[in-house]
Amino acid sequence: MNVTVTGAAGQIGYALLFRIASGQMLGTDTPVRLRLLEIPQGVKAAEGTAMELDDCAFPLLAGIDIFDDPTAAFEGTNVALLVGARPRGPGMERGDLLEANGGIFKPQGQAINAGAADDVRVLVVGNPANTNALIAASNAPDVPKDRFTAMTRLDHNRALTQVAKKAGVPVSEVRKVTIWGNHSATQYPDIFQADVAGTPGARLAEDREWLEGTFIPTVAKRGAAIIDARGASSAASAANAAIDHVRDWVHGTPEGDWTSAGVVSDGSYGVPTGLISSFPVVSRGGSWEIVQGLELSELSRGRVDASVAELQEERQAVEQLGLV
Ligand code: NAI
Repeated sequence: MNVTVTGAAGQIGYALLFRIASGQMLGTDTPVRLRLLEIPQGVKAAEGTAMELDDCAFPLLAGIDIFDDPTAAFEGTNVALLVGARPRGPGMERGDLLEANGGIFKPQGQAINAGAADDVRVLVVGNPANTNALIAASNAPDVPKDRFTAMTRLDHNRALTQVAKKAGVPVSEVRKVTIWGNHSATQYPDIFQADVAGTPGARLAEDREWLEGTFIPTVAKRGAAIIDARGASSAASAANAAIDHVRDWVHGTPEGDWTSAGVVSDGSYGVPTGLISSFPVVSRGGSWEIVQGLELSELSRGRVDASVAELQEERQAVEQLGLV
């Protein structure tokens, strides 16, 4: 399998590549060839990471190539992890941020369209992830839209642990938590349908002070709390979530549970068609399916709508910029 990783010399790239090469993402029977994409200034550092990958002598690692040209980097790719993105600089408005990222994700979408393998699967990690995924998908007209996804798995995993801690149960006993909407501070972690070691999540949600005052803000603002504590943004946990996302996409989600991913909306739950929004999803036969038939509480409905409204604003902004 050819795996392209953009932003390969960054901190998530450093936490991600060794796990891919060791077989944790695609399985221990699948050899991988890594294709690393960096900007020219990042190539030397990527070469250093490639030297370390060589020094691990991973039996599954069939080769490493380094590029500063997206067209070459996505040639024949089966799995594309779009991690490199333009961070928000001082004084940068949202429109500037979307425009700067459009300059990255538009050509990458075009390059995927031109040369990726027919079965390509794309995960966008770089922020603003949902709208960057929308830009890439819109610029790859020959690739089915459902092959473009945005990462909300880190938010999902954060929510699982917060629920487990509140209930005093192992995290493995928390199921059916959902992240809805945008990977931003408006995201909505929903526990109303959850199964918490046999107890309905709705019962935990009866403690509204905890739900609205602690749980939701803790999950939604976790990224900022990590930066505050670590002096750098989440990297190993983000890489771990990317591994989880692709592994489940390729190999399927466990029976009796679901996960969360930013996928193209088919209009489910009133989310406008074509937006890349986070939903409860299962993976069957190598494709994501949105879990149907969940009843949203009044609180959930309002929060989902607010996050989706933000996604619509972002879509309008990138439409006006001619990026989609
Ligand atoms: P970083 O700044 O350490 O690394 C980013 C790398 O991308 C740099 O090496 C840079 O040279 C490279 N890059 C920039 N433009 C590029 C381009 N056009 N093509 C190829 N490479 C390019 O950043 P870090 O910590 O690795 O984070 C990467 C992104 O992931 C950020 O946008 C961050 O906000 C996002 N993120 C998303 C999360 C999620 O849950 N969706 C969680 C954590 C981070």
